[in-house]
Amino acid sequence: MNPTRIIIDTDPGVDDALTFLLALASPEIQLEALTTVQGNVTVEKATRNALSVLELAHASHIPVVRGTSHPLVKSPHASGEEVHGASGIGKSNLPEPKSKPLPQHAVDYLIERVLAEPNALSIFPIGPLTNIALAIRKEPNFAKAVRELVIMGGAIRSGGNITPLAEFNIHEDPHAAHIVFHSGIPITLIPLDATYKCLLTSDDIERLNKINSPIARFVRDATATYMDFYKKYEGFNGCAMHDPLTLAAVFAPELFTFENLYVDVDISGGISTGKTFADFMKVLKKPANIKVALDVRGRDFVEMFIERMEALSALSGVPAAEDGG
Ligand code: RIB
Ligand code: CA
Repeated sequence: MNPTRIIIDTDPGVDDALTFLLALASPEIQLEALTTVQGNVTVEKATRNALSVLELAHASHIPVVRGTSHPLVKSPHASGEEVHGASGIGKSNLPEPKSKPLPQHAVDYLIERVLAEPNALSIFPIGPLTNIALAIRKEPNFAKAVRELVIMGGAIRSGGNITPLAEFNIHEDPHAAHIVFHSGIPITLIPLDATYKCLLTSDDIERLNKINSPIARFVRDATATYMDFYKKYEGFNGCAMHDPLTLAAVFAPELFTFENLYVDVDISGGISTGKTFADFMKVLKKPANIKVALDVRGRDFVEMFIERMEALSALSGVPAAEDGG
């Protein structure tokens, strides 16, 4: 079966970086490009981090394209440093990337790629939806040509993680989310309801680091800050695999409980701005616009993630005997 061809729109971000590695470790997926957006970090940092993680994985042939630096209306979020570290990828210490981003803007790149191959490319937005919304508004034919969007974002029955009601990616640019949700593009939404059930633990990290590999060490170092945050605020010895879970929609859809629902986002500017809500009782009598992952077999997903990271690490690892143990 031909791999699913995807472009990841991203604000790396620790869990974003793990998503790139998981995509590269998944034969069911062909990673076509990374487009960057302001979110966890500035778009400059996001672009640098995207380039450096691809270099770590010897995948610099995959283009990185810089996108928008501000939400459509809101001011940018102060900083995701407490969660993602000053670099945006935790305590990893990757060298400055040698490769450069493409000269185009990510919005123009998305439009060009999608119009060149209608219904061939899926886009996986795992940061604020600013680039996607601008592509929809700039090119009237864009929405009809995108195969599907698989979005990490939103909180349906779950509480929020940036306000008591709203999830970070949607809250960071709720106006962009509103444009995307009403674009008519086939959308699968992977909200906090599912992602908080996918917790990577320090035991998982220890298991992975039995392989002497720069990839395994990166996963350990990148998640260190993330795990400190979760221990401090959530009392958990681990971290949620928000972004990587989106890829399971390709290679393990059976792990999810999906429901087709009418979903919208609050842009009224009050306390619930950025809140995503589903019309479970169909009181609005509007057709479903989004396939929502309301549940997932989280531990099964994390096991798949670790197995695929072990395989990727072994490819770039140094056998212990050669490395002097
Ligand atoms: O709420 C989780 C999302 O916000 C993830 O995409 C994470 O990377 C942050 O961007
Ligand atoms: Ca992200």
